[in-house]
Amino acid sequence: MILHEKISAQLPAWRERIKTLAKEHGEVVVDKVTVSQVIGGMRDIKSLLTDVSFVDPAHGILFRGMSIPELLKALPKARGGKMPMVGGLYYLLMIGEVPTREQAQAVEEEWAKRAHVPDYVFKMIKSMPKETHPMTLFSQAVLALQNQSVFAAKYHSMKKDEYWEAALEDSLDLTAKLPILAAYIYRLKYFGESGKPKYNPRQDYGMNFSRMMKVSDKKGYAELARLYFILHSDHESGNVSAHAMHLVGSALSDPYLSFSAALNGLAGPLHGLANQECLGWLIDVKNKFGGVPTREQLYQFSWDTLNSGRVIPGYGHAVLRVPDPRFTAQMEFAKKRFPDDELVRLADMVFDVVPQVLREQGKAKNPAPNVDAISGTLQHYYGVREFDFYTVLFGVGRALGVTANYVWSRALGMPIERPKSLTTKMLEEIVANAAQPA
Ligand SMILES: CC(C)(COP(=O)(O)OP(=O)(O)OC[C@H]1O[C@@H](n2cnc3c(N)ncnc32)[C@H](O)[C@@H]1OP(=O)(O)O)[C@@H](O)C(=O)NCCC(=O)NCCS
Repeated sequence: MILHEKISAQLPAWRERIKTLAKEHGEVVVDKVTVSQVIGGMRDIKSLLTDVSFVDPAHGILFRGMSIPELLKALPKARGGKMPMVGGLYYLLMIGEVPTREQAQAVEEEWAKRAHVPDYVFKMIKSMPKETHPMTLFSQAVLALQNQSVFAAKYHSMKKDEYWEAALEDSLDLTAKLPILAAYIYRLKYFGESGKPKYNPRQDYGMNFSRMMKVSDKKGYAELARLYFILHSDHESGNVSAHAMHLVGSALSDPYLSFSAALNGLAGPLHGLANQECLGWLIDVKNKFGGVPTREQLYQFSWDTLNSGRVIPGYGHAVLRVPDPRFTAQMEFAKKRFPDDELVRLADMVFDVVPQVLREQGKAKNPAPNVDAISGTLQHYYGVREFDFYTVLFGVGRALGVTANYVWSRALGMPIERPKSLTTKMLEEIVANAAQPA
């Protein structure tokens, strides 16, 4: 299998680099840690290693060193579309090279072979109370598949340097099944349909998802699905979902157990749930003014939001200091395809007005839009208007990055994660000692 061959070929050199760093330079200091970082959620402490992606404050996310515009241009496109095949992105994340069309296609074919979900999983989802959150159903479904884990089954018979091979098997199996699970949850929860979605091996990942979701514009939504899954696939390894996957995986829990944990983190309002709030805010504006307001009305509405003690959703970022290229890519997508949509016009006006308002307020370090400022608007256009489902879409995309990281963490023999805690008293003593003259 193509990913297996390529990773095998690269592994000796990677292992050597890691070994050299650990053995010969293990004492070199990387970063200092301050009291406010210890108290404040480990913010910015440089203590994780990943080569899959990097968030550059000035350029946004780089996947294997490539910016979003670069990779959207370079990756092989889906048949009949302008967006890349998701299989090509997965190849890039796993291997670190832009695939040829055949190589991207080979990943798509692997998915098609593995895209089967056993009946009991559908039955389990269906038996849950109607009001269950779709993210809960999604995470449960992943956990229910865990008995299929190759990693768990082979754990006692594998050598440590073989872990990654089982991890890769699981990662391909798992990512192949996610569009089916997500589409099933969507049709069941909001339309009461319990027919099992079928993956068509002649279609790519994006088109399969679109068809199984049963949206009316299948071709258009397939393009959006490709873009959406690519943009949401990874964001370094310190964000909650990626870190949860890494942490749980470091205990050698298999990819199913680890990804279910990642989804549970993604379901939090401070993480994956933010995009639904952005769309909600735009719709509030639209409802209040009966359509797209004037610039002045929007300016006032933005100030009213801030003055009532709320944040403007979709704006600001912990790391980025420029408009998020994931926002820009989605805005370009919308402006090319449906520039006259009311919410798109509104989102565009917000992009014009809100940064100015935030600059005037002077608090946000980055007054520019993030990925969430537009992603719900695009889903809304294609008729996917069930806000609480949006995080499931995010989860399908995020699986690509976190499983690539999982495979490489096992390949490079990354150990169990175990930071050290202090007590408040110890921290106070450290502060007191630091204040003493030398
Ligand atoms: C994304 C976000 C959580 C980053 O937080 P952060 O790293 O603490 O951001 P900053 O360092 O710029 O925050 C400094 C101040 O500006 C405020 N601020 C940041 N973005 C803001 C926004 N969009 N609207 C209003 N105030 C904002 C913060 O609340 C903070 O205020 P405080 O000093 O009173 O606590 C923050 O920008 C935010 O809440 N944005 C809106 C919600 C959102 O879009 N979430 C999705 C994130 S992908």
